[in-house]
Amino acid sequence: MHIYQTTAADRPEIEQLLDTAFGLDRHNRTAYRLRDGSTPVEQLCFVARREEGGCNAHLCASIEFWPIEVACPNTGESLPALLLGPIAVAEECRGLGLGGQLIRLGLETAEKLGHHLVILVGDPEYYSRFGFSNAGTGAWTMPGPFEQRRLMAHVSDPALSLPAEADVRKASCVHPRAAAQG
Ligand SMILES: CC(C)(COP(=O)(O)OP(=O)(O)OC[C@H]1O[C@@H](n2cnc3c(N)ncnc32)[C@H](O)[C@@H]1OP(=O)(O)O)[C@@H](O)C(=O)NCCC(=O)NCCS
Repeated sequence: MHIYQTTAADRPEIEQLLDTAFGLDRHNRTAYRLRDGSTPVEQLCFVARREEGGCNAHLCASIEFWPIEVACPNTGESLPALLLGPIAVAEECRGLGLGGQLIRLGLETAEKLGHHLVILVGDPEYYSRFGFSNAGTGAWTMPGPFEQRRLMAHVSDPALSLPAEADVRKASCVHPRAAAQG
């Protein structure tokens, strides 16, 4: 299996993989509202391709991380964060450890790049093994409907404490307090 940073040439196959994994209505999901008008972090987008098959080598998996922020309404401060997802592994490649490999690669690379907070919406039964937890996110909001237990955070800096109440939102939103001052 060849894992490498996603290129523009991979994009059509990634879109197809995501349509199959999440359905054609995937763009209506709340997580997509956080990605609207934004672009994923290039160094944190990876694909896995089977090596056999030459130029027809089959796309097996894709992972992306997007810049977002976790805004604390009580202090007006916001923490820069990444949104993990979408991640998808083609059905015939599942259960081989590929998803885990891409998640660990993404988290390690994110940390090297100085990102210490990663958020996702997903199954705790899967993501807790990578250090994601919903323990601190029970009073967090998102810009749309979501299942509270599926909102999870991964903190790689022990000095970073999560706010009890927070709005997960798109990066670079001007906070109301800053806007009022500016
Ligand atoms: C979730 C997904 C990325 C996992 O990829 P994968 O390569 O099959 O995962 P791994 O091989 O690393 O791990 C497999 C293990 O995770 C478990 N697992 C996979 N999805 C799970 C889920 N949603 N909940 C609980 N456990 C899950 C498997 O049962 C297996 O368990 P085992 O190790 O005890 O046998 C893949 O199933 C997928 O693409 N699913 C559809 C899209 C999706 O749901 N994406 C995640 C939401 S953003």
